[in-house]
Amino acid sequence: MTGEEDPPPSVVDRLPLLTALHAACAAPQPGLLPEPPPEPPGPVVPLPAPDAVRVADGLRGRASPVAGFLPRPITAGALAAILAHAAAGYPGDLPGCHEAPVTVTPHVLVQRVTGVPAGAYRYDRRRHALVAAGGTGDARTTALRTNTRWALPEAAAAVVPVGDQATGGTTFGDRWYRLQQAEAGLVVHRATLAASALGLAARIHSDGTNPATDAALGVRGPLRGLSFLLLGTPRPGSTVTGPLW
Ligand SMILES: Cc1cc2nc3c(=O)[nH]c(=O)nc-3n(C[C@H](O)[C@H](O)[C@H](O)COP(=O)(O)O)c2cc1C
Repeated sequence: MTGEEDPPPSVVDRLPLLTALHAACAAPQPGLLPEPPPEPPGPVVPLPAPDAVRVADGLRGRASPVAGFLPRPITAGALAAILAHAAAGYPGDLPGCHEAPVTVTPHVLVQRVTGVPAGAYRYDRRRHALVAAGGTGDARTTALRTNTRWALPEAAAAVVPVGDQATGGTTFGDRWYRLQQAEAGLVVHRATLAASALGLAARIHSDGTNPATDAALGVRGPLRGLSFLLLGTPRPGSTVTGPLW
């Protein structure tokens, strides 16, 4: 059968709500960035100089681990590099985006990082430091899927881009959703590549994006975790026997 006789299914016909979402988000609705909510102060943990690493070097070996992580610590320099790359700027038209993402802030749950106490932190890019976010630091909940339940306790850290999904809509309209999702993706994918370039590995676990994780992170008010990236030393081989996710 040729491609013409058997065309691929039409997304527009099959997923009208997704089509409407994309149409709404693509509409030009220029606006001003909302004032971010005040960031509560907390104890500051300075990070060491980031390990020198290029995200492009992470491309070759990058793969989402299927068997979770070995419960081994990573260095603070490695975490510093991962966060510095995750919070780097990008070419775009949002004010300030050349310096850093402007609709999300990377947060991190530290579990095994040498020299950094376990806990929940916001990454302060300007100070290159972690600011304790006041959460419990424990994101394990019964609602997690099987592979996340296994991987989470053994990962070295979780990187979570955090943002306010609502407020930007008042000035940017529906386009806010798309802008913020793009930045959230940028944060987790750059963190992934930096981890890979350092000989580590990372996997997005979308089910880790939930209210329990927000509580563990100390994320409050209009803020929400928008993605959830586990990282650490990959466990070799595949020990997954149940449904993957
Ligand atoms: C947006 C996004 C969401 C994902 N969510 C999950 C998830 O919830 N659980 C999971 O195990 N993997 C998740 N992954 C990881 C994908 O399963 C993985 O990237 C995919 O299998 C391709 O493998 P690779 O990353 O090694 O190329 C997600 C990946 C992306 C890009």
